[in-house]
Amino acid sequence: MSKVTIPQIQRRKAEGPKISVITAYDYPSAQLVDAAGIDIILVGDSLGNVVQGKSTTLPVTVEEMIYHAEMVVRAAKNALVVVDLPFPYCQLGPKEAVKTAAKILKNTLADAVKIEGGENRRKTIQAVVEAGIPVMGHCGLQPQRIKMLGRFSLQRNQEQLQKDINAIENAGAFAAVLECVAPEIADEVTRSVGIPTIGIGAGPHCDGQVLVYHDLLGFKETAPKHVKVYANLGKIITDAVKKYCEDVREGAF
Ligand code: KIV
Repeated sequence: MSKVTIPQIQRRKAEGPKISVITAYDYPSAQLVDAAGIDIILVGDSLGNVVQGKSTTLPVTVEEMIYHAEMVVRAAKNALVVVDLPFPYCQLGPKEAVKTAAKILKNTLADAVKIEGGENRRKTIQAVVEAGIPVMGHCGLQPQRIKMLGRFSLQRNQEQLQKDINAIENAGAFAAVLECVAPEIADEVTRSVGIPTIGIGAGPHCDGQVLVYHDLLGFKETAPKHVKVYANLGKIITDAVKKYCEDVREGAF
């Protein structure tokens, strides 16, 4: 296998197969998903939730994104590595976004950044792309807007979503995440644009799917509704450590 490139990802919209994306935040997990043949590893600001145990992604800093992304890039021999621009660097305007995206790329050697927002981020995405930094867009539910939204819910405003995805495409992004979008709307939006859409909680019609590593592998007892849990590692780890504790206490190890 050889390193996945952005032109290859873009061609997959027309030629298939669909694009597989998973998050990872450290060297061993990135090594495992890379060896499994994943197309894109996303170092998501979801690390605030699943690694740091925080209730939102808002406290995650640029330095933390760099710390995690650097480990992932070192492990990823084939997958394309995309790194989230954390709050508030998508929101501060084109200049701050270019500076921050460049800092992330320079310090991690990642392949691209992800920027949350649609119509309202057109100039920001365009500026980052013009600086030579590939951008993955992210519309539908935007966790960095959770304080405005109040809760995570399915997005059904087709008119807004269409405006957002058009803006992301016209600004030069190479792909876009559609998060928590009604499947029939995700389907129409996907067919209307030239860039691949990567769904999460958006039904089966997107050009690819993304899941959070810890959700897909069953680290928690309950996962969000949209998740397909492929393994129960949480239970496997707890059972193994229980057995180890028993062995140590009994002098069996
Ligand atoms: O931060 C993240 O992991 C994400 C995905 C859920 C798309 O943005």
